[in-house]
Parts: sequence; structure tokens; C-alpha cells
Amino acid sequence: APRYRVSVIGSGNWGSAIAKIVGENTAGNPNEFDLNVRMWVFEEMVDGKKLTETINSKHENVKYLPGIRLPDNVVAVPDLIDCVSGSDILVFNVPHQFLPRICSQLKGKIPATVRAVSCIKGVELSADGITLIATYITEQLGIYCGALSGANLAPEVAQEKFSETTIAYKIPNPADTISQKTIKALFHRPYFHVNVINDLAGVSLAGALKNIVALASGFVDGMDWGDNAKSAIIRRGLLEMTQFSREFFPESESSTFTEESCGIADVITSCAGGRNHKLGVAMIKTKKPVFELEELLLKGQKAQGVTTAQEVHAFLLKRGKTADFPLFTAVNDIIFNGLDSSALPRILEQVEIQV
Ligand code: NAD
Ligand code: 13P
Repeated sequence: APRYRVSVIGSGNWGSAIAKIVGENTAGNPNEFDLNVRMWVFEEMVDGKKLTETINSKHENVKYLPGIRLPDNVVAVPDLIDCVSGSDILVFNVPHQFLPRICSQLKGKIPATVRAVSCIKGVELSADGITLIATYITEQLGIYCGALSGANLAPEVAQEKFSETTIAYKIPNPADTISQKTIKALFHRPYFHVNVINDLAGVSLAGALKNIVALASGFVDGMDWGDNAKSAIIRRGLLEMTQFSREFFPESESSTFTEESCGIADVITSCAGGRNHKLGVAMIKTKKPVFELEELLLKGQKAQGVTTAQEVHAFLLKRGKTADFPLFTAVNDIIFNGLDSSALPRILEQVEIQV
């Protein structure tokens, strides 16, 4: 039987935590996977040393996942093409704004038999509309790509605290030996429970859109409006997420939002302890510009909700649908157009009355 070689593209907070999981599983399933997991690192100098060299000598990503030991079989590689060459399975895990450049470097260099899983929470905006990240990878590289998304704050997962996740993966070709079972074996851990489903659009959109909702929950916490207000934001947010998916990606299933880790559970966790939530709170409390705060608070990590709010808003404007998504629209207007966050109840009320 073949032993699949796996590469992880990305090594941020979640990229490193996922590389740890994958490394543990390739070590634990020697009949199925090649032991070594190559992890592409966007090279930078940290404390006067190359980050790849520090990761390979200390087995720790000291900048993006400090305090967590990475398995010895996870090898940091600075060259993207080196990292993927000869791999059978690619795991994409970078902030979504960096994906187009990565795909343009990989284009034409990946055999069609390679399979991929995207752990990225975001969407790709083009002149034609919104493309799912996994679909974008398929279009750019000519390989099938599934999606992994769940209530998975990376530092908790890295500490092996229990969580669940959802993977959308459908075998693209009946002759494929990389099955749903193979994909589950690559990610499932005693502390990280994987459920594999078919709904690529639902899993992808839930992960992307909840980041907008998490910012809104940060705004209400920044105003000290309490738990009832936050629950109202979560409810309205989940409704808009489901409605957006049903309207623009009718192949998605609403049960993904109500029943899976990538749906309701991720909204709850992100509205409690995520980076987008933290940034939302700080925006209200400090009134500083959003990208300045992101740099200050997250130290190189990225809050995906800011760009996603902008991308979703641009898409809704083009379709003439902003009025149907008042929370998404308000988040964009609070970030970019100086709307006061205290207007949220009035904005949400107008829509409820119309219904
Ligand atoms: P991150 O927010 O820690 O971002 C930092 C990473 O971006 C670093 O690896 C850095 O080297 C890289 N980077 C910076 N500039 C770059 C450039 N020009 N080109 C390429 N890479 C560059 O990243 P993350 O937390 O690993 O997030 C990756 C994806 O996973 C995101 O879509 C995020 O929404 C999702 N996610 C994150 C978490 C979490 O808790 N961190 C959990 C679930 C999903
Ligand atoms: P943040 O990017 O807001 O930290 O959310 C992390 C996440 O996706 C948890 O599931």
C-alpha cells in the first residue's frame, strides 16, 4: 500500500498547531503515512535567527505558537516548491490574503493526483463573485481540495485540550486511494475529534463568516453590553451566515450550521475567546485604526474577519443585497465607514420589523 507524504503550507498559530497534529498522526500510522511532515514557513528573522532554523533546532515555533513542542518529524522548510515536491497530500493553512500568491507560485507544479485540505477561514473575492477557498485551490492548481473547520482556538488545540472539528471531503475520483478514512486518520486525535461530511460550501462558509460575527461580538463587549447582547449577536449572526449560504451557495446544508462544530460551536468559541473578538473589543475601547491594533495586539497573527467583512460587503453591494444582511453590513460600516457601534440594536430592529 502507498505511504502518503504530507506537507503543511503555513506555520502561523493554527498552521503550527495543525502541523503538530498531522505529525503525531503520521508517526502513529506508519503503514499509511510517511513519517516526515514538511511545513512551509514564510521565512523571517526572529531574535536575530531564521525562524526555520529555530523551529528545526528547538522544535518550537517561538513566534506564532510559543510554549508548544512540535514533534521532531515536523520539519520547517523555507522554500515553497521544496516543501511540496513529492507530496501526496497538501494541507493549506495560511491567512487567506496570502493564498493567491502561494497558488501562483505552485501553479503548474502539482500533479493532478495530489489531494488537499484547506484549514483556511476566509473567502476569495473576484470580479465574478465569491469563491470558496477550497474551490479556489482546485481552480488554481487542478487538484481536489476539501475543507477543515471547527471550534478550534489554536492555543487550546495545541495544548491538547478537547475539541471537535468538521472536515468536508468527498472522494473526487472512485479510483482514489486517499479516502475519507485516510483524511480522518490524518487529523483525528483523542483530543481532536473529526467528523467528515460532504458539505464543502457549508463548512467553508461557516468558518469564513463567523469571523465577521466574532468582530460584532467584540463590539458589544467593548461597549460592556453584557451577555444578553452578545447572545443576540450570535443568534443574528448565525442566521445571516445560514441565509448567505442558502442564497448564494444553495448546495450548502443548513444542518452544517446547526449541528456541526464548524457551525454553531465555532461561532460560540470565536465570540468568546478568538482574536477577531479581541480586536473588536479593542477597536471600541481604544478607537485606534484597525490595522494598527491588529499589529499591536496580535503581533504578526491575523484577524481574518476584517478582510472578510470587507469582501462580503463588496459582494453584497454588487448583488444589491446589503439590506438583507444588516449585521454583516454594520460590521463593515463600523470598521471602515465610521458607523457608531451603538447603532447595532436600531439596525437589527429595522429588519426584524420588515419581516
Ligand atoms: P496567523 O494569524 O498566526 O498568521 C501568521 C502567519 O502568516 C505566519 O505564519 C506568518 O509567517 C504568515 N505570513 C505573514 N506574512 C506572510 C506573507 N506575506 N505570505 C505568507 N505568509 C505570511 O495564522 P493562523 O492562525 O495559522 O491562520 C491560518 C488560517 O487558519 C486563517 O484562515 C485562520 O482564520 C484559520 N484559523 C485560525 C485559528 C487560530 O486559532 N489561530 C483557528 C482556526 C482556524
Ligand atoms: P480567531 O481567528 O478569531 O482567533 O478565531 C479562531 C478560530 O477560528 C476558532 O475556531
